[in-house]
Amino acid sequence: MTKPVQIIVVGMGERSMIYAREALAHKDWFRIVGVADIVPERVRLARDLFSIPEEHCFSSAEELAEYPRFADAVINGTMDRQHVATSVPLLKRGYDILLEKPFAVNQEEAEELLRCVRETGRRVMVCHVLRYAPFYRTIKEIVSGGEIGRIINIQMSEQVSFFHESVSYVRGKYASPELCGSGMLLSKCSHDLDIMAWLMSGTKPVSVSSIGSLFQFRPEMAPPGSGSHCFLDCAAERECVYSARRLYLEHPQRWVNNIWHECGCDGCSEEEKRRILSGRDNPYSRCVYGCDLQIVDHQSVLIGFEDGATGTFSMTGGAAASGRHIHITGTRGEIDGIFEEQRFTVSRIVPWEAEGKNVRTVDVSAQQKGNAHGGGDQAIVRDFIALLSGGKTSPCCTALEDSMTGHQIVFLAEKSRERNGETQYID
Ligand SMILES: NC(=O)c1ccc[n+]([C@@H]2O[C@H](COP(=O)([O-])OP(=O)(O)OC[C@H]3O[C@@H](n4cnc5c(N)ncnc54)[C@H](O)[C@@H]3O)[C@@H](O)[C@H]2O)c1
Repeated sequence: MTKPVQIIVVGMGERSMIYAREALAHKDWFRIVGVADIVPERVRLARDLFSIPEEHCFSSAEELAEYPRFADAVINGTMDRQHVATSVPLLKRGYDILLEKPFAVNQEEAEELLRCVRETGRRVMVCHVLRYAPFYRTIKEIVSGGEIGRIINIQMSEQVSFFHESVSYVRGKYASPELCGSGMLLSKCSHDLDIMAWLMSGTKPVSVSSIGSLFQFRPEMAPPGSGSHCFLDCAAERECVYSARRLYLEHPQRWVNNIWHECGCDGCSEEEKRRILSGRDNPYSRCVYGCDLQIVDHQSVLIGFEDGATGTFSMTGGAAASGRHIHITGTRGEIDGIFEEQRFTVSRIVPWEAEGKNVRTVDVSAQQKGNAHGGGDQAIVRDFIALLSGGKTSPCCTALEDSMTGHQIVFLAEKSRERNGETQYID
Protein backbone atom coordinates (compact mmCIF):
# COMPACT_ATOMS: atom_id res chain seq x y z
CA MET A 1 0.00 0.00 0.00
CA THR A 2 1.25 3.51 -0.81
CA LYS A 3 2.03 5.97 1.97
CA PRO A 4 -0.84 8.39 2.81
CA VAL A 5 -0.50 11.74 1.05
CA GLN A 6 0.64 14.54 3.38
CA ILE A 7 -1.47 17.69 3.17
CA ILE A 8 -1.32 21.17 4.71
CA VAL A 9 -4.47 23.27 5.07
CA VAL A 10 -4.13 26.95 4.25
CA GLY A 11 -7.13 29.03 5.34
CA MET A 12 -8.82 26.77 7.91
CA GLY A 13 -12.32 28.13 7.29
CA GLU A 14 -15.69 26.61 6.46
CA ARG A 15 -14.72 25.09 3.13
CA SER A 16 -11.31 23.74 4.06
CA MET A 17 -12.79 22.01 7.08
CA ILE A 18 -15.18 20.06 4.85
CA TYR A 19 -12.30 18.73 2.76
CA ALA A 20 -9.89 18.24 5.66
CA ARG A 21 -12.38 16.20 7.70
CA GLU A 22 -12.20 13.53 5.02
CA ALA A 23 -8.71 12.78 6.34
CA LEU A 24 -10.25 11.56 9.58
CA ALA A 25 -12.43 9.08 7.70
CA HIS A 26 -9.69 7.97 5.28
CA LYS A 27 -6.45 7.89 7.25
CA ASP A 28 -4.87 5.51 4.76
CA TRP A 29 -5.37 8.03 1.91
CA PHE A 30 -4.14 11.27 3.38
CA ARG A 31 -3.15 13.06 6.55
CA ILE A 32 -3.40 16.71 7.53
CA VAL A 33 0.14 17.46 8.70
CA GLY A 34 0.19 21.27 8.77
CA VAL A 35 -2.06 24.31 9.00
CA ALA A 36 -1.79 28.03 8.24
CA ASP A 37 -4.41 30.62 9.16
CA ILE A 38 -4.27 34.21 10.33
CA VAL A 39 -6.83 33.45 13.08
CA PRO A 40 -5.01 31.66 15.93
CA GLU A 41 -8.21 29.96 17.10
CA ARG A 42 -8.62 28.25 13.71
CA VAL A 43 -5.00 27.08 13.80
CA ARG A 44 -5.58 25.65 17.30
CA LEU A 45 -8.79 23.94 16.17
CA ALA A 46 -6.96 22.19 13.31
CA ARG A 47 -3.93 21.39 15.47
CA ASP A 48 -6.11 19.59 18.02
CA LEU A 49 -8.38 17.87 15.51
CA PHE A 50 -5.61 16.51 13.29
CA SER A 51 -2.80 16.21 15.88
CA ILE A 52 -0.53 18.60 14.00
CA PRO A 53 2.87 19.25 15.61
CA GLU A 54 3.37 22.83 16.84
CA GLU A 55 6.26 23.47 14.43
CA HIS A 56 3.90 22.88 11.50
CA CYS A 57 1.31 25.45 12.63
CA PHE A 58 1.70 28.76 10.78
CA SER A 59 0.14 32.19 11.20
CA SER A 60 -0.36 32.76 7.45
CA ALA A 61 0.06 31.27 3.98
CA GLU A 62 2.97 33.65 3.51
CA GLU A 63 4.78 32.33 6.61
CA LEU A 64 4.25 28.75 5.40
CA ALA A 65 5.69 29.59 1.97
CA GLU A 66 8.92 30.78 3.66
CA TYR A 67 9.34 27.45 5.45
CA PRO A 68 11.02 24.45 3.77
CA ARG A 69 8.58 22.07 2.10
CA PHE A 70 7.43 19.26 4.41
CA ALA A 71 4.31 17.84 2.70
CA ASP A 72 3.02 16.83 -0.71
CA ALA A 73 0.25 19.31 -1.20
CA VAL A 74 -1.89 22.14 0.12
CA ILE A 75 -5.64 22.67 0.35
CA ASN A 76 -6.09 26.41 -0.18
CA GLY A 77 -9.42 27.60 1.24
CA THR A 78 -8.61 31.28 1.68
CA MET A 79 -11.04 33.86 0.28
CA ASP A 80 -11.44 34.58 -3.44
CA ARG A 81 -9.10 37.53 -3.80
CA GLN A 82 -6.29 35.74 -1.94
CA HIS A 83 -6.21 32.62 -4.09
CA VAL A 84 -3.53 33.62 -6.59
CA ALA A 85 -1.41 35.69 -4.20
CA THR A 86 -1.24 32.83 -1.69
CA SER A 87 -0.92 29.99 -4.22
CA VAL A 88 1.97 31.32 -6.34
CA PRO A 89 4.62 31.19 -3.55
CA LEU A 90 3.36 27.78 -2.44
CA LEU A 91 3.62 26.38 -5.97
CA LYS A 92 7.15 27.79 -6.17
CA ARG A 93 7.89 26.05 -2.86
CA GLY A 94 6.96 22.77 -4.57
CA TYR A 95 3.42 22.08 -3.37
CA ASP A 96 0.54 20.85 -5.52
CA ILE A 97 -2.72 22.60 -4.62
CA LEU A 98 -6.41 21.87 -4.27
CA LEU A 99 -7.64 25.43 -4.70
CA GLU A 100 -11.07 26.84 -3.93
CA LYS A 101 -13.06 28.46 -6.67
CA PRO A 102 -12.99 31.06 -8.07
CA PHE A 103 -9.30 30.32 -8.57
CA ALA A 104 -8.70 33.92 -9.70
CA VAL A 105 -10.77 37.10 -9.71
CA ASN A 106 -9.80 38.43 -13.14
CA GLN A 107 -8.22 37.25 -16.39
CA GLU A 108 -4.76 38.66 -15.55
CA GLU A 109 -4.66 36.75 -12.26
CA ALA A 110 -5.90 33.58 -13.99
CA GLU A 111 -3.07 33.82 -16.52
CA GLU A 112 -0.51 34.51 -13.80
CA LEU A 113 -1.54 31.33 -11.99
CA LEU A 114 -1.49 29.26 -15.18
CA ARG A 115 1.98 30.59 -16.02
CA CYS A 116 3.23 29.66 -12.58
CA VAL A 117 1.78 26.14 -12.87
CA ARG A 118 3.54 25.68 -16.21
CA GLU A 119 6.84 27.08 -14.96
CA THR A 120 6.91 25.05 -11.75
CA GLY A 121 5.41 21.87 -13.20
CA ARG A 122 3.13 21.67 -10.17
CA ARG A 123 -0.55 20.72 -10.33
CA VAL A 124 -3.60 22.72 -9.31
CA MET A 125 -7.08 21.28 -9.06
CA VAL A 126 -9.97 23.74 -8.71
CA CYS A 127 -12.86 23.02 -6.34
CA HIS A 128 -15.57 22.90 -8.99
CA VAL A 129 -17.24 20.31 -6.83
CA LEU A 130 -20.52 20.27 -8.75
CA ARG A 131 -18.86 18.41 -11.63
CA TYR A 132 -18.61 15.49 -9.21
CA ALA A 133 -22.27 15.57 -8.16
CA PRO A 134 -24.06 12.54 -9.66
CA PHE A 135 -26.63 14.89 -11.28
CA TYR A 136 -24.06 16.69 -13.46
CA ARG A 137 -21.67 13.73 -13.75
CA THR A 138 -24.44 11.56 -15.20
CA ILE A 139 -25.57 14.32 -17.58
CA LYS A 140 -21.98 14.62 -18.78
CA GLU A 141 -21.78 10.85 -19.36
CA ILE A 142 -25.01 10.90 -21.40
CA VAL A 143 -23.90 13.90 -23.48
CA SER A 144 -20.47 12.34 -24.10
CA GLY A 145 -22.11 9.04 -25.04
CA GLY A 146 -23.89 10.83 -27.89
CA GLU A 147 -27.45 9.93 -26.86
CA ILE A 148 -28.83 13.43 -27.53
CA GLY A 149 -26.59 14.09 -30.54
CA ARG A 150 -24.60 17.29 -30.92
CA ILE A 151 -25.42 20.12 -28.56
CA ILE A 152 -27.31 22.98 -30.19
CA ASN A 153 -28.15 24.95 -27.07
CA ILE A 154 -27.68 24.84 -23.31
CA GLN A 155 -29.96 26.86 -21.03
CA MET A 156 -28.96 27.08 -17.40
CA SER A 157 -30.22 29.16 -14.51
CA GLU A 158 -29.58 29.56 -10.84
CA GLN A 159 -32.09 30.89 -8.34
CA VAL A 160 -30.51 32.10 -5.11
CA SER A 161 -32.95 31.91 -2.19
CA PHE A 162 -33.86 35.09 -0.32
CA PHE A 163 -32.06 33.88 2.80
CA HIS A 164 -28.88 32.82 1.00
CA GLU A 165 -28.91 36.06 -1.01
CA SER A 166 -29.21 38.19 2.11
CA VAL A 167 -26.74 36.37 4.34
CA SER A 168 -23.96 35.98 1.79
CA TYR A 169 -24.39 38.62 -0.89
CA VAL A 170 -26.31 41.57 0.57
CA ARG A 171 -25.10 41.56 4.16
CA GLY A 172 -22.23 39.14 3.91
CA LYS A 173 -18.68 38.64 2.77
CA TYR A 174 -19.49 38.64 -0.97
CA ALA A 175 -21.28 42.00 -0.96
CA SER A 176 -18.71 43.92 -2.98
CA PRO A 177 -15.67 43.47 -5.19
CA GLU A 178 -13.69 45.22 -2.42
CA LEU A 179 -14.64 42.45 0.00
CA CYS A 180 -14.34 39.39 -2.21
CA GLY A 181 -12.59 40.63 -5.34
CA SER A 182 -15.43 40.00 -7.75
CA GLY A 183 -19.13 40.34 -8.54
CA MET A 184 -21.86 37.83 -7.80
CA LEU A 185 -21.54 36.00 -11.11
CA LEU A 186 -18.03 34.85 -10.25
CA SER A 187 -18.50 34.19 -6.56
CA LYS A 188 -21.82 32.37 -6.96
CA CYS A 189 -22.04 31.06 -10.50
CA SER A 190 -18.52 30.14 -11.60
CA HIS A 191 -19.67 26.54 -10.94
CA ASP A 192 -22.50 26.85 -13.46
CA LEU A 193 -20.43 28.36 -16.24
CA ASP A 194 -17.75 25.76 -15.57
CA ILE A 195 -20.40 23.05 -16.01
CA MET A 196 -21.52 24.60 -19.31
CA ALA A 197 -17.93 24.80 -20.62
CA TRP A 198 -17.28 21.23 -19.44
CA LEU A 199 -20.40 19.89 -21.19
CA MET A 200 -19.23 21.57 -24.40
CA SER A 201 -16.15 19.31 -24.20
CA GLY A 202 -13.52 21.66 -25.55
CA THR A 203 -15.75 23.46 -28.07
CA LYS A 204 -14.55 26.96 -27.36
CA PRO A 205 -16.74 29.99 -26.60
CA VAL A 206 -16.19 32.78 -29.13
CA SER A 207 -18.55 35.51 -27.90
CA VAL A 208 -20.07 36.54 -24.59
CA SER A 209 -22.59 39.25 -23.77
CA SER A 210 -24.38 40.00 -20.53
CA ILE A 211 -26.75 42.38 -18.82
CA GLY A 212 -27.77 42.63 -15.19
CA SER A 213 -28.66 45.12 -12.49
CA LEU A 214 -29.33 45.70 -8.86
CA PHE A 215 -33.10 45.40 -8.92
CA GLN A 216 -34.21 44.84 -5.37
CA PHE A 217 -31.74 45.84 -2.69
CA ARG A 218 -32.01 49.62 -3.07
CA PRO A 219 -33.42 52.23 -0.65
CA GLU A 220 -36.46 52.94 -2.85
CA MET A 221 -37.56 49.28 -2.53
CA ALA A 222 -37.65 49.36 1.30
CA PRO A 223 -41.08 48.81 2.90
CA PRO A 224 -42.77 51.87 4.48
CA GLY A 225 -41.59 52.50 8.04
CA SER A 226 -38.32 50.64 7.63
CA GLY A 227 -35.21 51.81 9.42
CA SER A 228 -31.52 51.04 9.14
CA HIS A 229 -31.26 48.09 11.58
CA CYS A 230 -33.72 45.21 12.13
CA PHE A 231 -33.42 45.26 15.93
CA LEU A 232 -32.98 48.95 16.61
CA ASP A 233 -35.15 51.22 14.51
CA CYS A 234 -37.41 49.33 12.12
CA ALA A 235 -41.22 49.57 12.29
CA ALA A 236 -41.57 47.20 9.32
CA GLU A 237 -39.48 44.39 10.82
CA ARG A 238 -42.33 41.92 11.49
CA GLU A 239 -43.58 42.10 7.90
CA CYS A 240 -40.21 42.27 6.19
CA VAL A 241 -39.00 39.25 4.19
CA TYR A 242 -35.47 40.03 5.29
CA SER A 243 -36.01 40.47 9.05
CA ALA A 244 -32.73 39.39 10.67
CA ARG A 245 -34.65 38.26 13.75
CA ARG A 246 -36.75 35.86 11.65
CA LEU A 247 -33.95 34.73 9.38
CA TYR A 248 -31.26 34.08 11.97
CA LEU A 249 -33.06 33.51 15.28
CA GLU A 250 -36.57 32.25 14.54
CA HIS A 251 -35.52 30.02 11.64
CA PRO A 252 -31.91 29.21 12.50
CA GLN A 253 -31.70 26.29 10.07
CA ARG A 254 -31.52 28.76 7.19
CA TRP A 255 -27.90 29.26 6.32
CA VAL A 256 -27.04 29.01 9.97
CA ASN A 257 -23.39 28.13 9.46
CA ASN A 258 -22.51 31.18 7.47
CA ILE A 259 -23.67 33.78 9.90
CA TRP A 260 -22.46 32.46 13.26
CA HIS A 261 -19.11 31.39 11.88
CA GLU A 262 -18.66 34.87 10.41
CA CYS A 263 -19.74 36.52 13.69
CA GLY A 264 -17.15 34.40 15.51
CA CYS A 265 -19.73 32.67 17.72
CA ASP A 266 -20.13 29.10 16.48
CA GLY A 267 -22.22 27.25 19.06
CA CYS A 268 -23.04 30.24 21.27
CA SER A 269 -26.32 30.53 23.22
CA GLU A 270 -29.59 32.03 21.93
CA GLU A 271 -29.15 34.96 24.28
CA GLU A 272 -25.65 35.60 23.06
CA LYS A 273 -26.77 35.41 19.42
CA ARG A 274 -29.53 37.95 20.11
CA ARG A 275 -27.02 40.25 21.81
CA ILE A 276 -24.58 39.98 18.89
CA LEU A 277 -27.28 40.62 16.27
CA SER A 278 -28.56 43.63 18.21
CA GLY A 279 -25.20 45.33 18.04
CA ARG A 280 -25.33 48.55 16.04
CA ASP A 281 -22.37 47.46 13.90
CA ASN A 282 -23.46 43.90 13.20
CA PRO A 283 -23.63 43.65 9.38
CA TYR A 284 -26.25 40.87 9.45
CA SER A 285 -28.92 43.11 11.04
CA ARG A 286 -28.52 45.96 8.57
CA CYS A 287 -31.56 46.82 6.48
CA VAL A 288 -31.02 44.94 3.21
CA TYR A 289 -32.33 47.96 1.32
CA GLY A 290 -29.73 50.28 2.80
CA CYS A 291 -26.52 48.27 2.39
CA ASP A 292 -25.16 50.37 -0.49
CA LEU A 293 -24.73 47.12 -2.39
CA GLN A 294 -21.94 47.11 -4.98
CA ILE A 295 -22.99 44.00 -6.89
CA VAL A 296 -25.97 43.06 -9.09
CA ASP A 297 -28.77 40.84 -7.78
CA HIS A 298 -29.66 39.35 -11.15
CA GLN A 299 -27.72 38.83 -14.38
CA SER A 300 -28.11 37.02 -17.68
CA VAL A 301 -25.34 35.80 -19.99
CA LEU A 302 -25.45 34.81 -23.66
CA ILE A 303 -22.61 32.70 -25.04
CA GLY A 304 -21.75 31.77 -28.63
CA PHE A 305 -19.55 28.72 -29.29
CA GLU A 306 -17.14 28.13 -32.19
CA ASP A 307 -19.36 25.46 -33.78
CA GLY A 308 -22.39 27.78 -33.74
CA ALA A 309 -23.97 26.31 -30.59
CA THR A 310 -25.35 28.78 -28.04
CA GLY A 311 -25.72 28.90 -24.28
CA THR A 312 -27.63 31.09 -21.86
CA PHE A 313 -27.28 31.44 -18.15
CA SER A 314 -29.40 33.51 -15.75
CA MET A 315 -28.79 34.10 -12.07
CA THR A 316 -31.51 35.62 -9.86
CA GLY A 317 -30.98 36.46 -6.22
CA GLY A 318 -33.89 36.76 -3.77
CA ALA A 319 -35.93 33.75 -4.97
CA ALA A 320 -38.30 31.70 -2.81
CA ALA A 321 -35.89 28.75 -2.90
CA SER A 322 -32.46 27.94 -4.25
CA GLY A 323 -32.37 25.93 -7.46
CA ARG A 324 -30.26 25.13 -10.48
CA HIS A 325 -32.04 24.28 -13.71
CA ILE A 326 -30.48 22.88 -16.88
CA HIS A 327 -32.01 22.22 -20.29
CA ILE A 328 -29.81 20.90 -23.10
CA THR A 329 -31.10 20.56 -26.65
CA GLY A 330 -29.15 18.28 -28.96
CA THR A 331 -29.71 17.18 -32.52
CA ARG A 332 -31.15 13.84 -31.31
CA GLY A 333 -32.83 14.77 -28.05
CA GLU A 334 -32.97 16.83 -24.87
CA ILE A 335 -32.01 16.71 -21.23
CA ASP A 336 -33.96 18.67 -18.63
CA GLY A 337 -33.72 18.78 -14.87
CA ILE A 338 -33.35 20.64 -11.59
CA PHE A 339 -30.29 19.79 -9.52
CA GLU A 340 -32.11 20.00 -6.18
CA GLU A 341 -34.78 17.54 -7.37
CA GLN A 342 -31.98 14.99 -7.89
CA ARG A 343 -33.39 13.72 -11.19
CA PHE A 344 -33.63 14.74 -14.83
CA THR A 345 -35.34 13.57 -17.98
CA VAL A 346 -33.73 12.45 -21.21
CA SER A 347 -36.02 12.82 -24.23
CA ARG A 348 -34.81 11.11 -27.38
CA ILE A 349 -36.31 11.95 -30.76
CA VAL A 350 -38.07 8.81 -32.04
CA PRO A 351 -39.81 9.89 -35.26
CA TRP A 352 -41.62 6.56 -35.82
CA GLU A 353 -43.41 6.72 -32.44
CA ALA A 354 -46.76 8.49 -32.00
CA GLU A 355 -45.36 11.14 -29.64
CA GLY A 356 -42.19 11.53 -31.67
CA LYS A 357 -40.05 10.95 -28.62
CA ASN A 358 -39.09 8.57 -25.90
CA VAL A 359 -38.69 10.00 -22.41
CA ARG A 360 -36.91 8.42 -19.45
CA THR A 361 -36.20 9.81 -16.00
CA VAL A 362 -32.78 9.44 -14.46
CA ASP A 363 -32.98 9.50 -10.66
CA VAL A 364 -29.73 10.23 -8.82
CA SER A 365 -31.28 10.75 -5.37
CA ALA A 366 -29.87 7.50 -3.97
CA GLN A 367 -26.37 8.78 -4.72
CA GLN A 368 -26.82 12.45 -3.82
CA LYS A 369 -28.80 11.77 -0.63
CA GLY A 370 -29.93 15.39 -0.40
CA ASN A 371 -26.31 16.53 0.08
CA ALA A 372 -25.96 20.26 -0.78
CA HIS A 373 -23.25 19.57 -3.36
CA GLY A 374 -24.44 16.06 -4.16
CA GLY A 375 -21.36 14.53 -2.48
CA GLY A 376 -19.06 16.56 -4.74
CA ASP A 377 -17.09 17.97 -1.79
CA GLN A 378 -15.99 14.49 -0.79
CA ALA A 379 -15.53 13.14 -4.32
CA ILE A 380 -13.17 15.94 -5.34
CA VAL A 381 -10.88 15.15 -2.43
CA ARG A 382 -10.71 11.52 -3.58
CA ASP A 383 -9.79 12.68 -7.09
CA PHE A 384 -7.12 15.04 -5.77
CA ILE A 385 -5.57 12.23 -3.73
CA ALA A 386 -5.69 9.97 -6.83
CA LEU A 387 -3.93 12.69 -8.84
CA LEU A 388 -1.20 13.04 -6.21
CA SER A 389 -0.62 9.34 -5.76
CA GLY A 390 -0.44 8.60 -9.48
CA GLY A 391 -3.82 6.85 -9.55
CA LYS A 392 -6.55 7.19 -12.14
CA THR A 393 -8.49 10.43 -11.88
CA SER A 394 -12.16 10.72 -12.83
CA PRO A 395 -13.53 12.37 -16.00
CA CYS A 396 -14.69 15.21 -13.70
CA CYS A 397 -11.09 16.15 -12.84
CA THR A 398 -10.88 19.92 -12.51
CA ALA A 399 -7.28 20.58 -13.54
CA LEU A 400 -6.48 24.29 -13.79
CA GLU A 401 -6.13 24.34 -17.60
CA ASP A 402 -9.47 22.62 -17.91
CA SER A 403 -11.14 25.08 -15.53
CA MET A 404 -10.00 28.19 -17.39
CA THR A 405 -12.88 28.42 -19.88
CA GLY A 406 -15.71 28.78 -17.36
CA HIS A 407 -13.83 31.55 -15.54
CA GLN A 408 -13.01 33.28 -18.83
CA ILE A 409 -16.73 33.36 -19.70
CA VAL A 410 -17.46 35.02 -16.35
CA PHE A 411 -14.71 37.64 -16.79
CA LEU A 412 -16.01 38.53 -20.24
CA ALA A 413 -19.63 38.57 -19.05
CA GLU A 414 -18.69 41.11 -16.37
CA LYS A 415 -16.89 43.25 -18.93
CA SER A 416 -19.94 43.10 -21.18
CA ARG A 417 -22.34 43.95 -18.35
CA GLU A 418 -20.26 46.97 -17.39
CA ARG A 419 -20.57 48.08 -21.05
CA ASN A 420 -24.37 47.69 -21.21
CA GLY A 421 -24.28 44.30 -22.89
CA GLU A 422 -21.63 44.99 -25.54
CA THR A 423 -20.56 41.64 -27.00
CA GLN A 424 -17.04 40.54 -26.07
CA TYR A 425 -15.21 38.35 -28.55
CA ILE A 426 -12.56 35.71 -27.91
CA ASP A 427 -9.90 35.25 -30.62
N1 LIG B 1 -16.55 25.12 -3.93
C1 LIG B 1 -17.64 25.63 -3.42
O1 LIG B 1 -18.74 25.15 -3.67
C2 LIG B 1 -17.58 26.82 -2.51
C3 LIG B 1 -18.66 27.14 -1.68
C4 LIG B 1 -18.54 28.24 -0.83
C5 LIG B 1 -17.39 28.98 -0.83
N2 LIG B 1 -16.36 28.67 -1.68
C6 LIG B 1 -15.12 29.44 -1.70
O2 LIG B 1 -14.26 28.91 -0.69
C7 LIG B 1 -13.38 29.91 -0.21
C8 LIG B 1 -13.40 29.96 1.31
O3 LIG B 1 -14.69 30.25 1.76
P1 LIG B 1 -15.07 30.00 3.30
O4 LIG B 1 -16.52 30.25 3.43
O5 LIG B 1 -14.50 28.72 3.77
O6 LIG B 1 -14.27 31.23 3.97
P2 LIG B 1 -13.75 31.36 5.46
O7 LIG B 1 -13.69 32.81 5.72
O8 LIG B 1 -14.55 30.49 6.36
O9 LIG B 1 -12.27 30.77 5.36
C9 LIG B 1 -11.18 31.50 4.89
C10 LIG B 1 -10.04 31.29 5.87
O10 LIG B 1 -8.85 31.87 5.33
C11 LIG B 1 -8.13 32.44 6.41
N3 LIG B 1 -7.10 33.35 5.91
C12 LIG B 1 -7.25 34.65 5.52
N4 LIG B 1 -6.07 35.16 5.11
C13 LIG B 1 -5.16 34.15 5.21
C14 LIG B 1 -3.77 34.05 4.92
N5 LIG B 1 -3.05 35.09 4.46
N6 LIG B 1 -3.15 32.88 5.18
C15 LIG B 1 -3.84 31.81 5.66
N7 LIG B 1 -5.15 31.86 5.96
C16 LIG B 1 -5.81 33.01 5.73
C17 LIG B 1 -9.23 33.07 7.24
O11 LIG B 1 -8.79 33.39 8.54
C18 LIG B 1 -10.28 31.96 7.22
O12 LIG B 1 -10.11 31.05 8.26
C19 LIG B 1 -13.85 31.21 -0.88
O13 LIG B 1 -13.01 31.49 -1.96
C20 LIG B 1 -15.25 30.90 -1.36
O14 LIG B 1 -15.64 31.65 -2.47
C21 LIG B 1 -16.44 27.60 -2.49
